[in-house]
Amino acid sequence: MSGIGSGPVGVAIVGSGVISKDYLKNLTQCPDVVVVGVADLDVARAAGVAAEFGVPHAGDTASILARDDVEIVVNLTIPAAHGEVARAALAAGKHVFGEKPLVTEVEDGEKLVAEAAEQGLRIGCAPDTVLGAGIQSAVRAVGSGVIGTPVAATTAMQTAGPDLWHPSPEFLFQRGAGPLFDMGPYYLTALVSLFGSARRVAATARQARAERVVATGPKAGTRFAVEVPTHVNALIEFTSGPSASSTFSFDTTARRMLVEIAGTEGTLSVPNPGSFDGALKVFEPGADEWRDLPVAGTTLGRGTGVVEMARAIRAGRPHRASGDLALHVLEMMTAMTSSAESGEFVTLRSDVARPEPLSADWDPREATLY
Ligand SMILES: NC(=O)c1ccc[n+]([C@@H]2O[C@H](COP(=O)([O-])OP(=O)(O)OC[C@H]3O[C@@H](n4cnc5c(N)ncnc54)[C@H](O)[C@@H]3O)[C@@H](O)[C@H]2O)c1
Repeated sequence: MSGIGSGPVGVAIVGSGVISKDYLKNLTQCPDVVVVGVADLDVARAAGVAAEFGVPHAGDTASILARDDVEIVVNLTIPAAHGEVARAALAAGKHVFGEKPLVTEVEDGEKLVAEAAEQGLRIGCAPDTVLGAGIQSAVRAVGSGVIGTPVAATTAMQTAGPDLWHPSPEFLFQRGAGPLFDMGPYYLTALVSLFGSARRVAATARQARAERVVATGPKAGTRFAVEVPTHVNALIEFTSGPSASSTFSFDTTARRMLVEIAGTEGTLSVPNPGSFDGALKVFEPGADEWRDLPVAGTTLGRGTGVVEMARAIRAGRPHRASGDLALHVLEMMTAMTSSAESGEFVTLRSDVARPEPLSADWDPREATLY
């Protein structure tokens, strides 16, 4: 991998919707990256967001890709557009860091990752919540033997669904989303960060309602079709030994965000992998209650993975929230979907190295590239 250039890395955002503001708020606090432009199909929306965060350029995607000072395109479009925007960015010689999922189809993801590698360019992908203090502290705790040898994980992501709060929730119930593809990446990336690659998966899937109603914003009251399962129960077997049972649901009134890892010497309660921090607890043999463990690290929020990738580009070392990792997670989710249809376990073909944990003093807000 080549480390080109020097100094802070120029970044542009494509897709100026709901989540772009989180990225802009955070990335504009990080001296190792400079946000030089914002784009969207809706150029007026891009201009509004650029003005709000003092970004000098707003326009369409082509205008962003034509700029020499853009090294990383941060792709915050909807899942159905992730592949098209990423390919355009690679064709323009830019690295890409995209929101999850990587793309909607495994074959597209394989081609994208291979294309980037051929060109010496990087693909990075959310979730970067796993680089936050919460999950990184959990990874370090498991690595230091706090719970002995990990045996099994139990995870649950259960809500009533994002149609209750997102002003344009239709895409969250289409191919490439639903609870598995929209929220699964947080939980599955956390599990792969803890255990390494999955070997095989099985799942069941249901859909409680064929239609939903937009609850908030200008489209409130609009009915739309649900195209994907909205309650998935999965079993995962990891190559390193542990297994996991995982629920992903937009059909559950009571909210539940759970990640617990049972080990030979205790059980670890892991922070919500959809957040960057949270409490880390251990239940030790013979104990009556959970004991708090330290959570160490600086929390920035969304954009952490972009800064980590920018530093990796300059250093010529692999980045952590990688395309290979996102591709493995995409294959896990796709295999769960086909298992729900076939009733069979599905063996995965991709394999990915467990990313190195960040050190506790890693700080995305620090200036390291001057
Ligand atoms: N909303 C959240 O809380 C949230 C949280 C984490 C991750 N995400 C992820 O972020 C991504 C975007 O989600 P969002 O909620 O911001 O969606 P959104 O619908 O609010 O915004 C998406 C934006 O992308 C633009 N767009 C779509 N296709 C495009 C294309 N081909 N070229 C340029 N612009 C295009 C749209 O015009 C829109 O402004 C999704 O992958 C989602 O999974 C969202």
